Amino acid sequence: MKSFDQITPPVSQATVEGIRKRNNIGDIGTASIREIKKLVDEIESEAGIRFIRMEMGIPGIPAAEIGVKAEIAALERGVAAIYPDIHGIAPLKTEISRFVKNFMNIDVSPVGCLPTVGSMQGAFASFLTVNRLYENKGTTLFIDPGFPVHKQQLKVLNQPFESFDVYNYRGEKLRSKLESILSKGHISSILYSNPNNPSWICFTDEELSIIGEMANKYKIVVLEDLAYFAMDFRKDLSKPGTPPFQASVANYTDNWVLFISSSKAFSYAGQRIGMLVISDNLFNTSFPYLKNFYSSESFGHAMIFGTLYALSSGTSHSAQYALAAILKEVNDGNFDFVEVVKEYGKKAQIMKKLFTDNGFYMVYDKDVDQPIADGFYFTIAYPGMDGQELIRRLVHYGISAISLAITGSERTEGLRACVSLVKRDQFPDLEERLKKFHRDHQ
Ligand SMILES: Cc1ncc(COP(=O)(O)O)c(C=O)c1O
Repeated sequence: MKSFDQITPPVSQATVEGIRKRNNIGDIGTASIREIKKLVDEIESEAGIRFIRMEMGIPGIPAAEIGVKAEIAALERGVAAIYPDIHGIAPLKTEISRFVKNFMNIDVSPVGCLPTVGSMQGAFASFLTVNRLYENKGTTLFIDPGFPVHKQQLKVLNQPFESFDVYNYRGEKLRSKLESILSKGHISSILYSNPNNPSWICFTDEELSIIGEMANKYKIVVLEDLAYFAMDFRKDLSKPGTPPFQASVANYTDNWVLFISSSKAFSYAGQRIGMLVISDNLFNTSFPYLKNFYSSESFGHAMIFGTLYALSSGTSHSAQYALAAILKEVNDGNFDFVEVVKEYGKKAQIMKKLFTDNGFYMVYDKDVDQPIADGFYFTIAYPGMDGQELIRRLVHYGISAISLAITGSERTEGLRACVSLVKRDQFPDLEERLKKFHRDHQ
């Protein structure tokens, strides 16, 4: 590998080093998403260069207008003065239940459809409740790679977790891997995102059925994070009530909790509203051990009147009206939200080619036997360099991303690239910078 003295990147080493030290950032190669963001903000203003910003998963599309209008109308009606019910406003609960039926073909009562302060709160609330169902099991298993903040949640809760990188356990191989961990009897919940952040793996029905079977066998609650709902663009998941549907473990077990985020699907990240959907079976089950923490041993009651009450006593009243209005239009077939977010997949296709044309390769490149879909994220590596060195160098070329090492991935040669904030008018810059990077490092 060439040393820094042998290359002439557009942003000098002195500039990057000065900013890194000033911000007390240790190694750029292992910096968190927010640290990279801060570093890049300052390089952009000091070096006068517009970055190809691929570090953070912020929606790159305006918020769904139906929601904004409904929210303004709700505020004007005076909802800001009134505490919302913790379990959510009735129209929203009905629309969430309809949405799950229309786009997943799963039946769930509106009673178990709860608004949360972003799906991150849904995850936090679930860890608190699900990992306390039994006296002797309370460990979460992450099917990684994954979203680092979930692990941060467990760290602040002081709850144990384990994880493995699914890359080598796709398809039927997942069964024996899960058996080897779950048979020890200490796992209470399994969490994965589907499509997966960061790798954009989409679990197949075979894999979801294995996870469901294991959940039944070992009495485990599956926490299915659908932050990128319907974004496997290889299938048309956009038509309410018409197959194909968003794939889900809910087809194979009754022990599930779904986190459906509004942040990416409806570009509603700023209002921090998500959906926590609990299966009827789990909602109505009693777990005697819950009585140690809650007034009731019923799962649904403990979740609403114990956990969610304690966390934030409900979700922003006006945002609930926004989400109800968006979902109603979506459910009625008047608003094709998938068409709007398809832009991410289209950009990914172009950007991936720019990388692979310039010596990079895709790290997570397959869904079992199919090429990985184009979506919100993709993963890249450059021969002869690990991910940490790659990100340290790419920032000198006006390109930012995050190292896969912080996502629980074993593929530490790789980076996660997020397409959302990159504008199409930046593609020529991206191409030119990648060409220069490749020339400098070949
Ligand atoms: C996998 C995953 N889960 C959850 C979230 C957070 O969702 P929300 O904004 O609804 O809290 C994200 C956001 O990037 C994500 O990538």
